[in-house]
Amino acid sequence: MRGGLSKTVAVLGAAGLLAVSACGNSDDGGGGGDAAATKDVTVFTWWADGGEKAGLDGMVSVFNTECKDYKFVNSAVAGGAGSNAKQVLANDLAAGKPPSTFQAHAGAELSDYINAGQVDDVSGLYKEFGLDKAFPQNLIDNLTVDGKIYSIPANVHRANVTWTNPTVLKKAGLDATKAPASVDAWMADMDKLKAAGVKAPLAISKGFAQEMLVEVVLLAELGPDKFTNLWKGESWDGADVTAALEKYKKLLTYTNADREAIDWPDALQYLNKGQAGYFVMGDWVAAQQLADKVPDTAYTYWPSPGTAGNFQYLSDSFTLPTDGQNPDGAKCWLKVTGSAEGQKAFNTKKGSIPARSDAQPADYPKYQQSAMADWKKDKIVPSCAHGAACTLGQNNNILSAISQFSGSQNVAQLQKALGDAMKKS
Ligand code: GAL
Repeated sequence: MRGGLSKTVAVLGAAGLLAVSACGNSDDGGGGGDAAATKDVTVFTWWADGGEKAGLDGMVSVFNTECKDYKFVNSAVAGGAGSNAKQVLANDLAAGKPPSTFQAHAGAELSDYINAGQVDDVSGLYKEFGLDKAFPQNLIDNLTVDGKIYSIPANVHRANVTWTNPTVLKKAGLDATKAPASVDAWMADMDKLKAAGVKAPLAISKGFAQEMLVEVVLLAELGPDKFTNLWKGESWDGADVTAALEKYKKLLTYTNADREAIDWPDALQYLNKGQAGYFVMGDWVAAQQLADKVPDTAYTYWPSPGTAGNFQYLSDSFTLPTDGQNPDGAKCWLKVTGSAEGQKAFNTKKGSIPARSDAQPADYPKYQQSAMADWKKDKIVPSCAHGAACTLGQNNNILSAISQFSGSQNVAQLQKALGDAMKKS
């Protein structure tokens, strides 16, 4: 996660010599190459480290049992939210060198790859693996274009989560078990923390973490319907959007000064080390805490202030790239991705909940149990930063606007840039 643009390639697992594959025949290796190469299943993600890698390792352990004819090859590129990986992937795809499978978010982000003709229709695999009944219909709808389905979801993550350090909050007499009711009430609590000597009560990192903070403020201030419509073409010009962005500007005054220099695991350390009271981040934080053996009692979590009752979702899915390496091996990966066993091995470690509807909450850690309950009863709204609502191009333009704002603090400019970004595809 902290390793910059280094391509982490580790070979995990071994191909069984005599075992019969659950997914077919390894002789057909797609893209050619020698016999050894055709066994390789190159899996491209940005889960290179910590809790994210622990989740990937869980999936790999099932792959190694179920797909003994094949060999998992880790093509992870470090960097939160794919900040480096997405560009590397775009280059590989443009150069005609797709991996066997790659991670893509369900929703608008996936449509980029579909429109560019870079991923194959996997509807047939849904029938073959019995997945058409395993996933909730709204998720399948998000993956379907013109009646075809282009990826298999591994999970559902929640984006609108605020993580707290109860020991820090206690310094200002604040109750860590209860979320402030609104963004304003939250900022009042941050004033108390500042008065108690906590210089930067709200930990934050660069790029997508700032985008996530903008999103939870918009969701809190505008409500779920207007929030969702902003990503569907509704105008960004209103005074309500201006007022919400002003609150975002004020929120930044409570954050660490090095916010442009660090990625999310480092911001989480500010929270864990007691230098901050709050951190807004998706629930891959639960995975990181688990991987770092941070006890449950050292942190609490709630829906970001003003967003209770809304579940801002994103979903990681795996694709079958057009002309990818070893499509049969990739199909075995996809079978594991969609399977009950694969989803359990992955999601118990990843902080996310299974995309399948048949999972047993009792099999999961405490955080995921609460997320599963909310997923059932909350209003579902999409994440732009993680591809459910925004294309790669829109997201890139939004990220530039937000990083510019981090320096300029010009709300009018930010509002215009966000609106302009959503006018383009
Ligand atoms: C998201 C991804 C999550 C997690 C996160 C932080 O885009 O969907 O699974 O990896 O980035 O890196």
